[in-house]
Amino acid sequence: MIQPEPGSTEERALLESGEIEMLGRMPWSSNATFLVKLERDGVESLAVYKPRKGERPLWDFPRGTLCEREVAAHRVSEALGWSIVPLTILRDGPAGVGMLQRFVDHDPEEHFFTLRENFGDTFRRFALFDVVINNADRKSGHCLRDRQDHIWGIDHGVSFHCAVKLRTVIWDYEGEAIPPTDLDALQEFGVRLDAELGRELTVLLSAAERQAVEDRLAWLLSERVFPQPLTEYPYPWPMV
Ligand SMILES: Nc1ncnc2c1ncn2[C@@H]1O[C@H](COP(=O)(O)OP(=O)(O)O)[C@@H](O)[C@H]1O
Ligand SMILES: [Mg+2]
Repeated sequence: MIQPEPGSTEERALLESGEIEMLGRMPWSSNATFLVKLERDGVESLAVYKPRKGERPLWDFPRGTLCEREVAAHRVSEALGWSIVPLTILRDGPAGVGMLQRFVDHDPEEHFFTLRENFGDTFRRFALFDVVINNADRKSGHCLRDRQDHIWGIDHGVSFHCAVKLRTVIWDYEGEAIPPTDLDALQEFGVRLDAELGRELTVLLSAAERQAVEDRLAWLLSERVFPQPLTEYPYPWPMV
């Protein structure tokens, strides 16, 4: 099966209007997470589908909002210009409205702990991205390397909370100065947050959550270093 080029119009068309066939449930998923096949005009590809009604209730996140958070994470990743999150949209599917995300063809033996030596620049951006979205669950296994050597981040449903919840395995850069090019990207992101991105996030997040994105960004831009752990237990569980 040929996956369309990331960022191509074909990729978006398939996700937005391809016919969805359920293939099975993903192993190790805590929410109802399905592997699906998409088909449109003879072109096929794989995607991950997480219906809203399959979201496991959590004590600290409003019920049924994880799929919007996943879409918001993709929008933020695009606005930063870092292509961390595979194309993710909100769409009606066989089990109702949910998030649909391009499947990343990857070797499941690889993850952050096995990749960090060789992809430091990429993971620095992951670390900054996770601060911006307040990611409460950056496991090592949520970092997937595709066949073109691009690393993608997945599973951003528990992000964008107003309270500080950053839980991640990526603490390698704490105290380091943020590289100038990444600072530029963060600054540009701020401009977008004031404009079209801000409007998009209004639909996906609460007003307070949208404001919190701006606050975390302002904080990063004033500190200009990779933060130290912000909570008492700053790791996800399990770590991989
Ligand atoms: N876009 C994707 N491409 C490839 N594999 C994925 C993708 N999204 C999820 N997976 C696989 O499915 C598993 C479960 O997905 P995840 O997003 O972690 O679901 P949950 O919200 O249930 O924790 C992941 O550990 C990963 O192996
Ligand atoms: Mg998960």
